[in-house]
Amino acid sequence: MGAAKRTVTIRDAVPGDLPYVAEIYTHESLYAYSTFETAERPLADWEHKLTIGDPFVVADDGGQVLGFAFASPFRERPAYHRTREVSVYLHRAARREGLGTRLYDELMDQLLGAGFHTALALIALPNKGSVRLHEQYGFELAGTMREVGDKQDRMIDVAIYQRMLQDPGPNPGTGLSPA
Ligand SMILES: CC(C)(COP(=O)(O)OP(=O)(O)OC[C@H]1O[C@@H](n2cnc3c(N)ncnc32)[C@H](O)[C@@H]1OP(=O)(O)O)[C@@H](O)C(=O)NCCC(=O)NCCS
Repeated sequence: MGAAKRTVTIRDAVPGDLPYVAEIYTHESLYAYSTFETAERPLADWEHKLTIGDPFVVADDGGQVLGFAFASPFRERPAYHRTREVSVYLHRAARREGLGTRLYDELMDQLLGAGFHTALALIALPNKGSVRLHEQYGFELAGTMREVGDKQDRMIDVAIYQRMLQDPGPNPGTGLSPA
């Protein structure tokens, strides 16, 4: 996985990407605290996620996925339908090369294009890279939840970062469609 040889394309995720996605995420689940998952997520969960149709993009280096970013419903209650939570994960050998930035360029374009109103990122602290990336995309600190995570033998704070995507207008509507 040599950085010098990379020609990376950012594109929508397809089913063939999901084993790579799962491998990257499993590493974070088992050995890091960037996600509060602690076990491997079944591939079927990723397949289901892809069918939902929320923005889900990958960094493709000649067929190998080096990282991914996606949006998810923040919570299932219907009134949250114009809000999305965003996530981004890079393979540990592909960080600090600008790929997070390239993934977010595309993810944010898709969120704006889909008409969502606001985006949230929940960042387990400390995470200088994620904080920096989100601040570069206009996310602001909305608050910090203290010691809500219990992983790797410590209690972990989680910062909530928020970016407003657009003005809701006089009548944002009541349906489940984000538009
Ligand atoms: C966080 C993450 C997605 C950032 O992606 P990346 O491709 O490494 O970031 P980029 O190279 O696009 O850099 C974006 C900015 O963040 C800065 N940055 C990235 N990693 C950093 C680090 N470890 N410490 C300090 N700054 C960092 C970069 O310098 C750059 O800022 P600059 O333009 O001022 O120089 C990536 O490190 C990662 O996957 N980490 C593990 C999973 C994770 O924490 N995901 C986020 C969950 S909330």
